Amino acid sequence: MNSPLPSFENHLPRRVITGRGASQSLAALCQANGWSRVFVVSDAGVAGAGLLQQVVLPLQAETFAEVPSEPPIEVADTIAARIRASGADAVIALGGGSVMDAAKVASLCARHNKAAHEFVGIGKAGGRGLPTVLIPTTAGTGSEATFVAILTDPASGNKVGVLDPCILADIAIVDPALTDRLPVHITATAGMDALVHAIEGFIAKVATPLARGLALEAARRIGRSLETVCREPGNTAARDDMAIGSHLAGMTFANSSCCAVHALALP
Ligand SMILES: [Fe+2]
Repeated sequence: MNSPLPSFENHLPRRVITGRGASQSLAALCQANGWSRVFVVSDAGVAGAGLLQQVVLPLQAETFAEVPSEPPIEVADTIAARIRASGADAVIALGGGSVMDAAKVASLCARHNKAAHEFVGIGKAGGRGLPTVLIPTTAGTGSEATFVAILTDPASGNKVGVLDPCILADIAIVDPALTDRLPVHITATAGMDALVHAIEGFIAKVATPLARGLALEAARRIGRSLETVCREPGNTAARDDMAIGSHLAGMTFANSSCCAVHALALP
């Protein structure tokens, strides 16, 4: 006989908008939400690829496009100071996991007037930050779908995490067109990360029923398209599969857990 259903809770972004070209609705979305002044967080790679100008130009927003990869925790403080000085009422993140994670924590710092290190740990947010719109430009981390932000403590060299449902996106925009010109090595490695999120999120003992369902759909899409998109970078159907699959894989591990593969990444 089956054991009784354990209680579980799921956490998801408040709103998810997907589709080719979906990011072009950003200005209208900001207006509809009553955000008169937004702050944009991005990085040099996204700016260099022309995506920053393409997506945020209509907003005429102040921008910080200098998030490094594996960002040190102080970057969130730097961004928060700029957000406060600008008087912005919402934060847009356009980039990969590093950019989105830095923006998630900066939105907390800016709203609560605290340093980023005060939020490190589980459930330390003490309420939502400024509203966030998270827009991934890779198909991999799934950060737009999770309540986890991973930064680096330069003093120890260790990874530190901010984990709190309060940092889930107000709006996640998954626009596969933003990934069309990703270099093959990033497509491959980010795609493998996403596939592992789905697999680990499915087999974890704490996986909720919702997470297991999402994991199967994520693995189906990534499994049929990862090799294709590496061999044929212009294959838009495969790009679409990867973008949706990695997003679902992010939702999966947010409502489950990663396992040994991600644990091995820590040392
Ligand atoms: Fe990962």
